[in-house]
Amino acid sequence: MKAQFNILDTVDSTNNYAMGRIRDGLAQSGEAWFTHEQTQGRGQMGKSWISERSENLLMSVIIKPQSSLFENIFHFNAIISTVIRDFIQKLVPDPVFIKWPNDIYVNDRKAGGMLIENRFQGKEWKWSVIGLGINVNQKKFETDFQATSLYTLNNTKFDPETLARALHQEIMDCLSAEVFFDLEATVACYNRHLYKKNENVKLIIDDNNHTCKIIGVCNDGMLQIEVENRIKKVRNGEIIWKQFEL
Ligand code: BTN
Repeated sequence: MKAQFNILDTVDSTNNYAMGRIRDGLAQSGEAWFTHEQTQGRGQMGKSWISERSENLLMSVIIKPQSSLFENIFHFNAIISTVIRDFIQKLVPDPVFIKWPNDIYVNDRKAGGMLIENRFQGKEWKWSVIGLGINVNQKKFETDFQATSLYTLNNTKFDPETLARALHQEIMDCLSAEVFFDLEATVACYNRHLYKKNENVKLIIDDNNHTCKIIGVCNDGMLQIEVENRIKKVRNGEIIWKQFEL
């Protein structure tokens, strides 16, 4: 499927812009909004997403999900995370991981993240906005932000717009690829590249420090961990990774 790719010079946030298109009844499924600069970029959990002008890939893709194709919202998220991971893996030599739920990690550093926002009408899933921030050519990050970029990983500069166009096309192709219509297969693919799978990590749960083993992500999108010899399922927001605490 070929879809429209649009460029904005500066915008508060491409996700806000995309949401506005949906609100105004102007959105077309598949359209992408790329920008060189965001003045109020947003990350997960209400955090901000700061990016140097023209150095990185900042894009939102609007999708009208065919909800019958996806068993739940995580199914959709897992497809997108897998596409982004595979895309980055083609550009860097080191293994690329998905840090649950939607981060991309290489060498224990964040190379990119996703902010997927959904619009419902009653129970009906009407729209998704896939906001993507991938660190491309930026070399320096705020000291306490454990980030990396494609340039740091590969010593090669990439053109963020060219990458965004290619990634947009891959997202569109994957959303129509039959292989992803199966939830189990999609989650298995996601788990194959899950960050710290089968490893012990330090997590904060209910304000307490725990050493936990990451078991894997379930079909409902919850993370399975082993804590004090018990298997526990947690939702996004219920744990904080101690080593990435800011
Ligand atoms: C995260 O890891 O916290 C998610 C980062 C998502 C950032 C992207 S940049 C393009 C789009 N517009 C935004 O305001 N956020 C997303």
